[in-house]
Amino acid sequence: MMLKDKVIFVTGGARGIGYGIARAVLDAGARVAIGDLDEQAVSDARTSLIAETPVTGDAVFATVIDVTDELSVETALSATRSHFGFPDGLVNNAGTVRLGKDLEASTKDWQVQMEVNVIGTHLCSRVFAKILIDADRAGAIVNIASNCGKVGYPNMAGYNASKAAVINLTRSLSTELSEHDINVNAICPGGVYTPMLMEVAESIGACIGQPADELIKTMVPAQLGRHIEPLEIGRVAAFLLSDHAGIIRGQSINADGGDTPY
Ligand SMILES: NC(=O)c1ccc[n+]([C@@H]2O[C@H](COP(=O)([O-])OP(=O)(O)OC[C@H]3O[C@@H](n4cnc5c(N)ncnc54)[C@H](O)[C@@H]3O)[C@@H](O)[C@H]2O)c1
Repeated sequence: MMLKDKVIFVTGGARGIGYGIARAVLDAGARVAIGDLDEQAVSDARTSLIAETPVTGDAVFATVIDVTDELSVETALSATRSHFGFPDGLVNNAGTVRLGKDLEASTKDWQVQMEVNVIGTHLCSRVFAKILIDADRAGAIVNIASNCGKVGYPNMAGYNASKAAVINLTRSLSTELSEHDINVNAICPGGVYTPMLMEVAESIGACIGQPADELIKTMVPAQLGRHIEPLEIGRVAAFLLSDHAGIIRGQSINADGGDTPY
């Protein structure tokens, strides 16, 4: 119960890693607000979370959010505060990817990845941190970066660059927010079985003429020999959001089954 009585906001919580994080923080005793683009999807995710965990409906709040829109971010965090009281933790998980050779990538592809992955992380962190600072409250932010932000895999240059920016933003925010007792870290996952990984398999599969459902079986961390489950990333996030992680600051921690050695 590392997060007993804490309130955690997870962006992109309707599916994939965000959903796994919501489950893990509930398991750790928190109440959770999940935010996502689609109202029906986020409401269905709330229903599933209540069905899959021992919590009652009071512990899960669902709200629409577009992390690229400042007004939407303010509205979602304000609705969460009205529902639960002050938030203690924020997970910047919402993300998007555009695949293909960089020589053929459009400026629009680059912009959308920067807007969601980087500016979205900045906006949500800013709104969340101001709420805490105004109330003189401590808290934690966990950014979901990617091992792509360290490695630089082919056919996803804009995504790689956006995640490298999230890694540096994590370090920068950590230094700025430490005086307010807000701890900021990031997780760099890789090979997590989600709709996004399937999207990547479909794109690569179409290029090399291999069915996506066959290809995805090979897209596993080598040392682990299997996909990572969203709940496993969620457990790392739960730890980083907790008071036990106070000595870990501004770090971007690999959670990719050992694929990235630095
Ligand atoms: N799956 C992996 O192996 C992997 C590896 C490294 C990093 N990541 C990162 O983890 C995070 C989650 O990835 P996933 O695999 O679960 O992806 P996913 O596509 O399955 O889920 C992403 C969620 O974010 C939401 N979202 C997208 N844009 C949004 C916006 N503007 N505002 C609010 N919500 C928005 C989507 O609606 C979706 O529910 C992303 O940041 C991704 O880059 C994933």
